[in-house]
Amino acid sequence: MQLLIMGAPGAGKGTQAAKLAAKYNLVHVSTGDIFRSLNEMTDLGQQVRRFMKAGKLIPDDLTNRLVEERLECNDCMDNGWILDGYPRNVEQAQNLDVFTNIIRRQLTCVLNIHVPAEKLIERAIGRRICKNCGATYHVKFNPSKVADVCDSCGGQLYQRADDTAETMKNRLSVYEKNTRPLIDYYKQAGIYAEIDGTQTIDKVTEALFNVLSSVKA
Ligand code: AP5
Ligand code: MG
Ligand code: ZN
Repeated sequence: MQLLIMGAPGAGKGTQAAKLAAKYNLVHVSTGDIFRSLNEMTDLGQQVRRFMKAGKLIPDDLTNRLVEERLECNDCMDNGWILDGYPRNVEQAQNLDVFTNIIRRQLTCVLNIHVPAEKLIERAIGRRICKNCGATYHVKFNPSKVADVCDSCGGQLYQRADDTAETMKNRLSVYEKNTRPLIDYYKQAGIYAEIDGTQTIDKVTEALFNVLSSVKA
């Protein structure tokens, strides 16, 4: 199965993609995580961090290439994948269509987590991530048992550099202008499903599993 999880910044893509990946044994491919893992001592790592800190998209050429390299790996080819944060504009979506045709791994379903803009800033600002294992928490909606310590591995929690009110404004306007048009793109392709992302994390997961149980049947 090849899935795409969409949604505005802070909608819950990463949180839900991790659960879907575990349930269906898919590889979780997050472009944001790939960019954040680039070595910050290199020119490329520095450039990418500047784009992210400003809330701007990284150029398509680089983004497309990194995704293609990842999807060609054996784990993705053998198990299927869930894309999180890519594509983010129509050009990237067209590129993905061409590429998935070449590798014969077309998208099975596009899941869009819908959350109204006013809730997204609070979600991003309260987010905390484990430095060690990448687990995601929220100070109010999904707190760790001990403040700033990861429940699963004891690692220290940190805040992303782009999770500020100011950068979130830019990320949301980039979403409106570039990414929202993908909803119509995938509706036309007939593989689109929308989920109410304002419910609790567990309820959203349940709704996603429901959609996929009918897709798989
Ligand atoms: P990326 O890392 O993809 O960030 P994003 O799209 O802004 O989305 P987030 O990761 O912020 O949110 P999420 O939807 O994953 O939410 P999460 O599950 O963490 O991209 C970052 C940057 O990289 C971009 O700005 C760009 O510069 C670059 N980039 C990435 N992909 C690119 C591409 N394709 N092209 C070009 N540039 C690209 O949840 C958020 C918080 O809410 C958490 O604290 C969580 O615990 C909480 N939460 C989750 N669900 C719920 C719920 N149901 N109720 C209450 N709280 C919840
Ligand atoms: Mg994310
Ligand atoms: Zn951890």
